[in-house]
Amino acid sequence: MRRTAVDDGAASSRRDKPKPARPTTARRWPRWSELGPLLRPRPVQLDPTQRRLSRALSIADLRTAAKQRTPRAVFDYTDGAAETETSLRRAREAFQRVEFQPRVLRDVTVVDTTTTLLGRPAALPLALAPTGFTRMMHHQGERAVVRVAEGASIPYALSTLGTTSIEEVAAAAPTARKWFQLYVWRDRGAGKELVERAQAAGYEALILTVDVPVAGARLRDVRNGLTIPPSLTLRTVLDAATHPWWWVNLLTTEPLVFASLTSWEGTVAELIDQMFDPSLTPRDLSWLRESWSGPLIVKGIQHVDDARMVVDLGADAVVISNHGGRQLDRAPTPLEVLPTVVDAVGDRAEVLVDGGVQSGADVVAAVALGAKACLVGRAYLYGLMAGGERGVQRAVDILTSELIRTMQLLGTDSVSRLEPAHVRLRP
Ligand SMILES: Cc1cc2nc3c(=O)[nH]c(=O)nc-3n(C[C@H](O)[C@H](O)[C@H](O)COP(=O)(O)O)c2cc1C
Repeated sequence: MRRTAVDDGAASSRRDKPKPARPTTARRWPRWSELGPLLRPRPVQLDPTQRRLSRALSIADLRTAAKQRTPRAVFDYTDGAAETETSLRRAREAFQRVEFQPRVLRDVTVVDTTTTLLGRPAALPLALAPTGFTRMMHHQGERAVVRVAEGASIPYALSTLGTTSIEEVAAAAPTARKWFQLYVWRDRGAGKELVERAQAAGYEALILTVDVPVAGARLRDVRNGLTIPPSLTLRTVLDAATHPWWWVNLLTTEPLVFASLTSWEGTVAELIDQMFDPSLTPRDLSWLRESWSGPLIVKGIQHVDDARMVVDLGADAVVISNHGGRQLDRAPTPLEVLPTVVDAVGDRAEVLVDGGVQSGADVVAAVALGAKACLVGRAYLYGLMAGGERGVQRAVDILTSELIRTMQLLGTDSVSRLEPAHVRLRP
């Protein structure tokens, strides 16, 4: 019995003892002949702008590069919004809430991104929004932006507060689809003159921006003491040490001025409050409708009744927009307003939307929810700041490839087939 017990114990301890692991992978010394083909050093990119841009894989990457390349006041002027910046944050969050509803087993080898805008073809459901003071972001300014729009076959809107004249922009890109954005001055004669110049220079459409009765409170600009042209203060001089090329470019190219104003020295808010007319009413829209024979777009619509009103008064298109959050804080979120406006006026006018568009997938979502196209502002301005014309091109390329990939993954081969069923807005 004892022996048996001992024997049993020995047998069980033999069973519990871990067996030496049998190697599953046989190892050997690497052979030089096999290492060679693996060595594929990336070509050295000597051009720093090209290097910076090719590393940027998203608009957010371009934003990071833009921040490094420009003085703080310039970056903040572009990046910032009004007061608590809630309008802008919500606009971007609305796009984050998009949940796509993909369909499978569809042939998406070829994707047709083309559409029509104001009855004419556009390569993408995208337009480059009017942005004031563009040559402050990069000395190539509006010329760079309109050239990229020309190459990409999408419209570009020049702002009344542009830093390159109506005629110079037209000359820089003769075949581009150019829209002129108008703010109505207190001096109506001056506004009328701009409209006539735009018509003479071959601009296709007029955008009337209606969400700026007074300047929004852009606190970053106030804190940074931003003036136009930039003033030389102790802070800006110190900044010059960290962004020398921006300053060299500013001081060695044509003076930075508002091209449609004789001269201005002060802040943007002061300019808006002194020059813009806060007494604008529907009568002014009727006046403009009579003076401009081409397509008329009203930008800054945030309520469905206003959309109806301006379409009744002859607008061919509306842009649902809160000015990228730069005017009224806690304004309606454009993507959320979109379906109601499309229902109300979509059969009589084109409905465009902007605010917070940061990717091609955002554009797909907006078009699925009924927008004819999106306008983008900051997305291309980040590119401009990061690398001039090539940076704007990079921004448009990023948006385009994201748009195509999203459509393929959604199982849709044409912009014209995007529909509300493709998108759900998560609560
Ligand atoms: C720096 C900057 C300047 C702008 N200037 C103008 C302008 O002069 N006229 C105008 O109608 N909208 C202007 N906007 C608003 C844009 O046209 C557009 O509505 C907005 O940028 C869309 O939001 P996003 O920047 O998130 O794309 C400006 C926007 C930015 C960022």
